[in-house]
Amino acid sequence: MHRFGYKGKEFYCEETPITKIAKEVGTPFYLYSIGTFLDHYLKLKEAFKPVNALICFSMKANSNLTVLNALVKNGSGLDIVSGGELFRAKKVGVDPQKIVFASVGKRVEEIEEAIRSKILMFNVESEQELEVINQIAGKLKTTQKVAIRLNPDVAPDTHHYITTGSKENKFGIGMDEAYKLFMQAYRYPHLKLAGVHIHIGSQITDAKPFVKAIKRVLEFIDSVGYKGNPIEYLNIGGGLGIVYSKEKPQTAQEFANVILPLFLSRKDRLKIVLEPGRFISGNSGILVTKVLYEKRAKTKSFLIVDGGMNDLIRPAFYGAYHEILPVVKSAKPRYETADIVGPICESGDFLAKNRKLATVKVGDLLAVLSCGAYGFVMSSNYNSRPRVPEVVVRGKKFFVARKRETREDLIKNERIVTEVL
Ligand code: LLP
Repeated sequence: MHRFGYKGKEFYCEETPITKIAKEVGTPFYLYSIGTFLDHYLKLKEAFKPVNALICFSMKANSNLTVLNALVKNGSGLDIVSGGELFRAKKVGVDPQKIVFASVGKRVEEIEEAIRSKILMFNVESEQELEVINQIAGKLKTTQKVAIRLNPDVAPDTHHYITTGSKENKFGIGMDEAYKLFMQAYRYPHLKLAGVHIHIGSQITDAKPFVKAIKRVLEFIDSVGYKGNPIEYLNIGGGLGIVYSKEKPQTAQEFANVILPLFLSRKDRLKIVLEPGRFISGNSGILVTKVLYEKRAKTKSFLIVDGGMNDLIRPAFYGAYHEILPVVKSAKPRYETADIVGPICESGDFLAKNRKLATVKVGDLLAVLSCGAYGFVMSSNYNSRPRVPEVVVRGKKFFVARKRETREDLIKNERIVTEVL
């Protein structure tokens, strides 16, 4: 349950009217309901209590420090993919033993810093990476836990850019090769091959592909264990889908009901790790934008708004659907179909195409829903547009958690090189 909705004619985030926030911070801006973040996290945590799963929020989906801090203070771990994310994770004081580090391209400095920081585990994506981590752990005179990311060759029904568990893409290690690595664990004296990891894709609304992948992986775990290498951890990744439009995704409890029996029926006490990003954050945030112009041609209508593809790239990049609602409903709405487009000089700069919505006019505010995951984090300065603020709400109060960038911010790392003249 997310905490955005109408009270009378006005759209609210928790107990706070959005018009009030817009007046103070201007538009566009991202708006997060902290209550929703926590609710989603705690529901998942509760559902997976029978196995006492470690939930590592996948901070690539939303790395705002206030959001991370709220989750971490409620017990969440973090799934990181870079030194930059490790830096943010440390800023919010997460217990390093609740950090898992994934990424196909970890750099030596990043690995070293993560080992020094005593993170729980690396999710390893190749044999070479295993060698590199082993070498660095040796240099630092320690033994580092790692999980091997398996490619279970399952292709869930989602956008082809965000499937990751089929043979066709760059992620993970095939089962046969991974088996060999476990059999040759002695080659990595500074590593403990403690776990296996899978992540089959993102925005998966049905548990079936998870079950299929997990069953394959459990067989793998058994075959390795049979040879005397018991595996301690199973990280089932993220990927749980949410509602953008008419999806009917599984709830946390429904997901757990299907997944948990696979573990509870086993004799070994596998430690289960989850890395959800979108499930916790997606419906916890919106983008608020203002109508700048209405353009009604004979064949087509456009609403030109002040939020562009640099602020929210998902529609342009994935053809993603985000519901768009007026922040203040009109008393007698008429409906029209329009493209809702941004100010950027690209035809791909749209938030919605051929969208039927209640007629709005210049100056009206629109709420673009389900933007809490892969929203702000994927934004850019394209067209020299300062990145927008991130505002958080808790009940009746709102706070600017990240300020709007200034013009000066845009050029702060630049100098005019006169030597080239
Ligand atoms: N674990 C791994 C190894 C991942 O690669 C990802 C996401 C996650 C966990 C979290 O997945 P989630 O629970 O959020 O589905 N930018 C795209 C999504 C890219 C997902 C990348 N990996 C989008 O806007 O839809």
